[in-house]
Amino acid sequence: DWTTGNVIEEQIEAIRAQVGEKRAICGLSGGVDSAVAAALVQKAIGSQLTCVYVDHGLMRKGETEQVEKDFVAATGVQLKVVDAQERFLKALAGVSDPEEKRKIIGREFIRVFEQAQAEIVAEAPDDHPVEFLVQGTLYPDVVESGGGTGTANIKSHHNVGGLPEDLEFQLIEPLRKLFKDEVRMVGAELGLPEEIVQRQPFPGPGLGIRIVGEVTKERLDLLREADAIAREELTAAGLDRDIWQCPVVLLADVRSVGVQGDGRTYGHPIVLRPVSSEDAMTADWTRMPYDVLAKISTRITNEVKDVNRVVLDVTSKPPGTIEWE
Ligand code: XMP
Repeated sequence: DWTTGNVIEEQIEAIRAQVGEKRAICGLSGGVDSAVAAALVQKAIGSQLTCVYVDHGLMRKGETEQVEKDFVAATGVQLKVVDAQERFLKALAGVSDPEEKRKIIGREFIRVFEQAQAEIVAEAPDDHPVEFLVQGTLYPDVVESGGGTGTANIKSHHNVGGLPEDLEFQLIEPLRKLFKDEVRMVGAELGLPEEIVQRQPFPGPGLGIRIVGEVTKERLDLLREADAIAREELTAAGLDRDIWQCPVVLLADVRSVGVQGDGRTYGHPIVLRPVSSEDAMTADWTRMPYDVLAKISTRITNEVKDVNRVVLDVTSKPPGTIEWE
C-alpha cells in the first residue's frame, strides 16, 4: 500500500540501517526535494546529519536568506553555509555548452561538499566519520538522466548524471522512487511548512542553465533582476498555484534592435517560459492572462538594463524541455 506514512517509515528504517553510527551531510538547494530529503534523514538520524548550503551565486534573489532563516526555523537542522561564488564563476568561465555547464556545476558541488566534510570532521574529529551524502534525487531525474531502463539521456541532472566519477561519498537518496507530488505529500506529513512544500521547482544548477551562452557575474545579476520581477508579478496575480514553474531565460548571445527613451538600443531578449505540469515529465505552456504578461514585459524592459525585448515560449514538453539547457 502506498501511503506517505509507509514511505516515511520504510525510508527511516533503511536510512538508519545504511548509516549506522556514522555521519552524513545533505546538500540543501532551497528547493522542495532537498528540503524533504533533509527532513526525512534528520528524522532518521538526528544530529548525525549536517546540512550544507552551497551559495554558488546561481541562486535567485532572496533564496540564500530564505534557506538560512526559514528552513532552519522550520526544521532545526544544523546548517553550514559555504560561499562558493568565486569558485563556480571561475569554473564556468568561457563555457557555453549546456551539458558541459551541468557537469561542471555537478562536479563543483561535490568538491564543495568534500571541503565541507573535511571542515565538519575537523570540528569534531573524535566523532564517527562523515561518509554519506544525502541528495533529493527524484524518479524523473533518474529517468531523464538515462538512469532508468531503456531511456535516452536527455539532460545530466546535477545530482545524477552530473556527478564526478571519483565520488568519495556513498549516496542516500530517499526520494529516488517518488514523483514531485508525492514528495510534497511526504514533506507535509513531516511537518514542513506550506511555503517550503508548495514551492515551485527550481533546478539545482540554478540560473547557470538559464543563461544561453557563457555565465558571467553581470549576466547573472541581470537575469536575477528579470526573474525577481516575473516572480513578483506572478505572485501578485495569484498564479503561483496554477503555474508549475516559470523559468526566466536570458539569451545572452542574442541581440536585437530596440528603441528606448530617445535612442536606439541593441540589447538582449528575456524569455518567459510558464508551464503547467503534473510531474515535469510532460508539460504544456500555460495560457496565462495577457495583462500579467504585459505587466511583466513592461517592467522588465523598463527596469533591467540591457534588456529591450521580452518573448513568450509557447512550446509544450515534448518537444521542448522545461528548461532551455
Ligand atoms: P526539463 O528541463 O528536463 O526539467 O524538462 C524538468 C524539471 O526538472 C528541473 N530540472 C532540474 N532539477 N537539477 C534539478 O534539481 C537539475 O539538474 C535539473 N534540470 C532540470 C526543471 O526545473 C523542471 O522542473
